[in-house]
Order: sequence, then structure tokens, then C-alpha cells
Amino acid sequence: MSAAPRCDRTEAWAALQGHYEAHGRSFDLREAFDRDANRFAGFGIEAPEVFADLSKNLIDVATRRFLLDLAAECQLEARRDAMLRGDAVNITEGRAVLHTALRAPKGQGPFSAEVHEVLDRMLAYAETVRDTASSGIRHIVNIGIGGSDLGPQMVLPALDAFAHRGLQFHFVSNVDGHDITPVLRGLDPADTLFVIASKTFTTQETLANAQVAKAWFLANGGTDTHKHFVATTTNVKAAAEFGISTTFGFWDWVGGRYSLWSAIGLPIALAIGADNFRALLAGAHAMDQHFAQAPLGKNLPAMLGLLDVWYRNFHGFTSRSVAPYHQGLKRLPAYLQQLEMESNGKRVDLDGEALPFATSPVVWGEPGTNGQHAYFQMLHQGTDVIPVEFILVKRPTHDLRDLHTKLLANGLAQSQALMLGKSTAQALSEKAPTASASLDAQTVARHRTFPGNRPSTTLMLDQLTPRSLGALIALYEHRVFTSGALWGINSFDQWGVELGKALCSDLLPRLASGDVAGLDASTAGLMKRLLA
Ligand code: F6P
Repeated sequence: MSAAPRCDRTEAWAALQGHYEAHGRSFDLREAFDRDANRFAGFGIEAPEVFADLSKNLIDVATRRFLLDLAAECQLEARRDAMLRGDAVNITEGRAVLHTALRAPKGQGPFSAEVHEVLDRMLAYAETVRDTASSGIRHIVNIGIGGSDLGPQMVLPALDAFAHRGLQFHFVSNVDGHDITPVLRGLDPADTLFVIASKTFTTQETLANAQVAKAWFLANGGTDTHKHFVATTTNVKAAAEFGISTTFGFWDWVGGRYSLWSAIGLPIALAIGADNFRALLAGAHAMDQHFAQAPLGKNLPAMLGLLDVWYRNFHGFTSRSVAPYHQGLKRLPAYLQQLEMESNGKRVDLDGEALPFATSPVVWGEPGTNGQHAYFQMLHQGTDVIPVEFILVKRPTHDLRDLHTKLLANGLAQSQALMLGKSTAQALSEKAPTASASLDAQTVARHRTFPGNRPSTTLMLDQLTPRSLGALIALYEHRVFTSGALWGINSFDQWGVELGKALCSDLLPRLASGDVAGLDASTAGLMKRLLA
């Protein structure tokens, strides 16, 4: 079905395997820096709003050349162009994948008229709500899950410096009533706006929470549901049936996890306003153009995606840790988990054939410096090698210079420590005042040894603004596209979420009736205990 060869069937793949055996496995970053005085410059990439230092990765010029050969043999550029022009690259659902069209300037890109009609209308609406003196709105509650939640939830703290001070935002996603209950507790229907966000408007969690919100609204003296409920969805009909008349639509060619640029971004627009929302789109568009036009060796999303393949398939690394040294990016790891793992957590190729190689790594992380005091121990001295991605922001949006300098020093020190490590001899030569006096010095030194040679990438932004954040998110989207294209999988479906949904529909009535007939013994036993 697919014209391009799968990565493992190319000559470059075999060459990479040979290169890994000969040089990759034993590659030492410290020696690489000693050998090449220009390594930092040679492995730095300037992309719109983002500078990336790839020099602390386990690659050399030959690795890069083989990876670029792989990209060429797998026709990465042709696949990219097919996505950007709107071919139905989501083959299992027969859909185009055009989140890039959502951020193309008016008159450019596919579906421009439809995209800009909704965008203009949504931004105009956002401005009326932001005029709090006349709208009377003080609280916005976004009810949505997955792609209809994680994007706005990630962007809002990141752009807090640009946010409307008179509006407070709340997010409800989980069908667990412990999520919505504390949110509703502090609210008054008169100054609350509910945004019901669901691409399909069929998602159990979202519809259940929306019903709870509507019932609460009416029971607490709310009168004008048309003013206080708005929907963002591709299923305008279902939203109307729910009783919502103000709707902002989008299209089936926008994947849920790629949808913050669409009407799903309404909470973002409400927080930061029309001009800033347009700047977010413009930043993403700049990265789209870089991805579309830059030669692959200097194309940041492409190179990061190729590096992911190198680490996953040749080094066998199973996860990647993201460490944003900016508290505003605290939800970025969660956002990236959906973006990357729902996109590339696949086990068959485009033809449905089982893959003989690994795909999506586990993506996880916490903002620095918090992570340093939790799991960084394992990154430095654990038995697994986990590439780390540091995100440093040069200029803060606050005036606490001293804190920011400390934050940056910490970020730099961590990537340095991962790479340099500490030999046992070095540890022996140092004092260890907190070590037990009953242990001999050699044993203590072995505990205090760091292997080093642990890879990391540093992404650097000048400042976290709507424009730079847009570019950063688009960078991740295209990087995920790149590794997915190389692996020859469909990065744009998510059949893996369906089975659990179907089984849940079967179990729901059983929880009411107590009927366990035909269930496996474990599920039946657990259900009986729940109902006892
Ligand atoms: O369960 C997976 C999923 O379909 C995601 O892909 C999506 O982002 C989420 O559910 C929410 O879907 P919807 O926006 O249609 O409610």
C-alpha cells in the first residue's frame, strides 16, 4: 500500500546497524568533544524561535549522514509534502492531516476560507467575553479530555504573563466526580462560562461532566444556558441536541492531539486575547515553514525525529525525559505524552504488518528543578540510559533575576553532569563528609561514581511568548511526524483506545445489575468486591 520502503528494509538501516556496532555502542561524548573543537557549532540548529544544542547526543558526523540517508530512502520529504498538501495520510480513517492549515495566514494553505471564518468568529467572541465589565464572566470551565483538554491546559500556565487578570480558568476532564466537584464548589452560575470541548461530542467522560455542569447550573439559579454554555466540536448537531447554541466548529482533518490551534483553543484565546492567539499561530506557522523548507540536516524537527529513531532502534533506549526549566511548562510533559505516545504507540505498519522493531518511547518528565529532587538520581546513576531534553528560557517574564540565574545554572549543570559524570578516582580524591565513617574509602567512592556519557538535548528559547510557544509545540508535532514516517506507521489514528471504551460500555450495566456471567474470573471477582 505504501510506496516508500519501511525503515528496516533500507540500505541505510543496515548501514546504521553496522555503524552502531562499530562506533555507536562505544561512543563517548567526552572523547567526541576532545576530538572536535567545533562540535557545539556543528551540532547546533537554529530554527524559528528555538535554538537546539544536539552536541551532547551520542552521534557523530557519520551517524548524522546515515540517518539522513535513512530519511532519503524512506522518502521523508515526500511524505511530509503529502501531509502538508492535504493527502489522506491518515489512511485507516481516510482523512487528511492538516493542523498546519489552522495556522497558515489567510489566503494560504488548504481550507483557508473555512479556517479563518471560524478563527475570526471565535476570536471576536473571545474578546466579548474578555470585556468582563459587560460580559459579567469571571470563571471559565473547560470540560474536555485528551486533546480537548491537554493543549489549553498546557498553554495557559505557559502564557500566564499574557493572561487576562480578571478571568479564572478551570479544567475538568476526568469522569471521576472528584474532578468536577471542587471546581463547581467555588463557582456562581451568574459569572461562569462552560466550554464543552469535544471533537466528536460523543466522549463519555465529557458528556457526563457536561450533564453534571448543566444540572448544577440550573439547580443553582442559572437561567441563560445559551449565554453560559458554548461548544467547540466537529459535531455541531450533537452540541445543538445537548442544548448549546453557541458553537465553534472544526473538521475531521484536525486530530484531537493536534487541535489546540482550532476552536479547541478557545480557552487560550479567552485567556490571552485575539492578538496573542494569532501570535501563537504565527509561531507555529514559522516552524511549519522551517519543517517544509529547511534542508534535513538543519531541519530541527526532522533531526530530532531521526535522533529518536537512532536512540529507540539502535541504542534501544525505551524512554525520553523532558525537563522544562520553566514552571509555566509544567504540563508540557503530559501534553507530549498524548502527542507522541498516542501518535506513535503503534505495532503495525501502514499495511497492517506487525513491526519487528520498537516504536514510541515512553515520554515523561517534570519541570526543573523539581525533577532534580525526585528522579534525577536515576538519570545520573540508574542502570538505564534515558536521553533528557532540557528546555531553557533565556529571559523570564518576572523581575526575580536572581532566581532565574539559579534556575538556568541548574539546567546547565544537569546536562553537564549527565555528560561528564565522575570517575571513581575523582570521587576518591574528594571529601565525602556525609558518608558513613565505618565504610572504607573505595566503597564510598564507588557509590559516588557517575558513569557520565548520558545524552541530552538542550532547546533554548529567548523568552516564553505566544509566538515562541507556538513554534515549540509545532516543533514537537513535526518531530513526532518524522519518527512515525520513518517507522512507516500511521501516526494519526488511535485504535488502541477503542477496546477499553467498548468493554466499559459492557461493564456499566453489569455494575448496576451485578451480572458477572461470562466475565473472566479476575474481573468478576473485582466486580463482586466492588458491589459487596
Ligand atoms: O480516547 C482518545 C481520544 O479519542 C483522543 O484522541 C481525543 O483527544 C480524546 O479522546 C477526546 O476526544 P473528543 O475530543 O472527541 O472528546
